Amino acid sequence: MTFGESHGKAVGCVCDGVPAGFEFSEADVQPYLDRRRPGQSSLTTKRSESDIVEILSGVENGRTLGSPIAMSVRNQDMREIDYENTADIPRPGHADYTYQKKYGIRASSGGGRSSARETIGRVCAAALAIKYLNQLFNINIVAFVDSVMEINIPEPIIDKFIRDPPTSNEIDKMSVIARTSTGLLMDTDGVYYPSLPLEPVEVTEKIITRCPHGPTAAAITKRISELRDTNNSCGGTVMGIISNLPVGLGEPVFDKFHAELGKAIMSIPAVKGFEIGSGFSGSRTMTGSDHNDPFRGSDGNLRTTTNYAGGVLGGITSGENVYFRVAFKPVSSIGVLQETCDFDGNLTTLRLEGRHDPCVLPRAPQIVESMIAITVMDFVLRNKRLV
Ligand SMILES: Cc1cc2nc3c(=O)[nH]c(=O)nc-3n(C[C@H](O)[C@H](O)[C@H](O)COP(=O)(O)O)c2cc1C
Repeated sequence: MTFGESHGKAVGCVCDGVPAGFEFSEADVQPYLDRRRPGQSSLTTKRSESDIVEILSGVENGRTLGSPIAMSVRNQDMREIDYENTADIPRPGHADYTYQKKYGIRASSGGGRSSARETIGRVCAAALAIKYLNQLFNINIVAFVDSVMEINIPEPIIDKFIRDPPTSNEIDKMSVIARTSTGLLMDTDGVYYPSLPLEPVEVTEKIITRCPHGPTAAAITKRISELRDTNNSCGGTVMGIISNLPVGLGEPVFDKFHAELGKAIMSIPAVKGFEIGSGFSGSRTMTGSDHNDPFRGSDGNLRTTTNYAGGVLGGITSGENVYFRVAFKPVSSIGVLQETCDFDGNLTTLRLEGRHDPCVLPRAPQIVESMIAITVMDFVLRNKRLV
């Protein structure tokens, strides 16, 4: 479970059921929090927090005790004033109205528990899960931005990633876009967008887009910047890939591998869709003879020549790479004047001040990776005979 409100004292998690005697300390968690941190580029919120984790329980002398592990990260950058004009007006697209109706009260500033700051607890728990899983098999968990609005990585490149996924560190390196003094953008391969500069240019900002395809990364940087400059926002999709999973994870029939994964992913703020394998386009464009993945192999250990199933058959992992897409909606907090009404129904207008992400996509892959790791560790613990 996670705890904490965005503008309260702290956020964090409690992980129960972690095996005892496992080496674990704050140093295992901090790199993941540093990677998640907001304020990293002009494409994301300027809210700035150092996000230092403290393990409160369940670990002694660097080893887990088998008791619940509580981890906490204190909130520092609290500016309640940013939210003053929303006390009586539920912000469109946010959870103010539903929290107020359900509980009769709500956190006085920001999204409270529905804020993306809650995801810090998930990142802490995932650090533990990733370390645990890495000791068992050579698992690779990766997520990256594959589209923003209608701008997407071309399918042949996605197919290559599905077959042979990069690591998340490689994604970070492959997806840097440099902004230059003349407004031109440059990708990791030194290609300029829209064209080669006539005169030398100076790099003014480096942006980790987490979109590992130069032309797409440059186009989405441009789009997000334009929307930020007009105080608007946008959404997109993240692709998640898990490789080197053993055959046999997933519990028929209600706790199928992709059912639990889908639940975990759909619990991330701003997620509006989840598809596994060929997903929605497979059902629109393929026949059964196109879609069935033929088997090859020997001694009962079979692989498939294609992978439209997305690495899961009957809710059980098949040993092929699991891949899926997640849709994130356009960010709700926008500086555009919106017509809406207050809690009493009086028509009014609202313009949100404060520091918000114009697009959550560059920050979303790490949260997707975190939910993958937590879900896979849960399944591994339920299938102890596999390890
Ligand atoms: C990494 C991340 C950062 C986010 N940052 C913002 C933000 O700056 N502004 C905002 O309105 N929503 C942001 N969100 C989404 C909101 O938390 C979410 O849309 C809101 O709480 C309502 O929940 P729902 O969209 O799941 O219905 C972010 C989500 C994620 C995953």
